[in-house]
Amino acid sequence: MAPPAQAPQPASQPPETKPPMTNGMMVLRLIRFTAIGLILMLLGALGYMQWFRPGSLSPDRAGGLVTAAEMQIGGPFALTDHTGRAVTDQTYRGRWMVLFFGFTHCPDVCPTELATVAEALGALGPDAGRVAPLFVSIDPERDTPAALAQYVTLYDPRLTGLTGTAEQVSVAARAYRVFYRKVEPPGSSTYLMDHSALTYLMDPDGRLAAIFRPGTTATDMAAAIKAHIARRGG
Ligand code: NI
Repeated sequence: MAPPAQAPQPASQPPETKPPMTNGMMVLRLIRFTAIGLILMLLGALGYMQWFRPGSLSPDRAGGLVTAAEMQIGGPFALTDHTGRAVTDQTYRGRWMVLFFGFTHCPDVCPTELATVAEALGALGPDAGRVAPLFVSIDPERDTPAALAQYVTLYDPRLTGLTGTAEQVSVAARAYRVFYRKVEPPGSSTYLMDHSALTYLMDPDGRLAAIFRPGTTATDMAAAIKAHIARRGG
């Protein structure tokens, strides 16, 4: 048998040498990277401002459809309510869920949003009976059902506080794309929770109907909820 004509040459060839970069080329490359970086940062900032813009959804948006990406918000959860009862998302089917994720030790956003939801319930009149306003704790370590019971009823007796195990809370938060993390301020013996602060209106089938940004007024929130209820015919 004849020997192979040529043995394979694994990487025996000298690597292609690139011409050495001149200072000018390096500067150009740096400028290019910087420009791309700046453009990406600008786009990110614009997206962020759009999403977290304070105030309510515009009136046409309030009664209109949500985007395809937003339609994926929502899903199954299994938690414990502030009376100690085990509940799931199915518990609230047939009612309009108004969900807000937060924690009872929150110094600013949660109290404001809960007060807004409570005021919106008042503005809804009899329609409030079709709504299940839910405050979901993302701090289950401290927010026991008893702690939640004390807290939510300060705002409105119709509010329901929900908590659970760390895993149950994580599942619920993931379904609603809610971000949260523990923050320990230096020199403090306690901790805070960083968390996203959107309020979700889910229809009686559990589908997303509207998203309220922090700072939405109770009047706007109630009007949007009323519009959705009327459009669906109950
Ligand atoms: Ni908060």
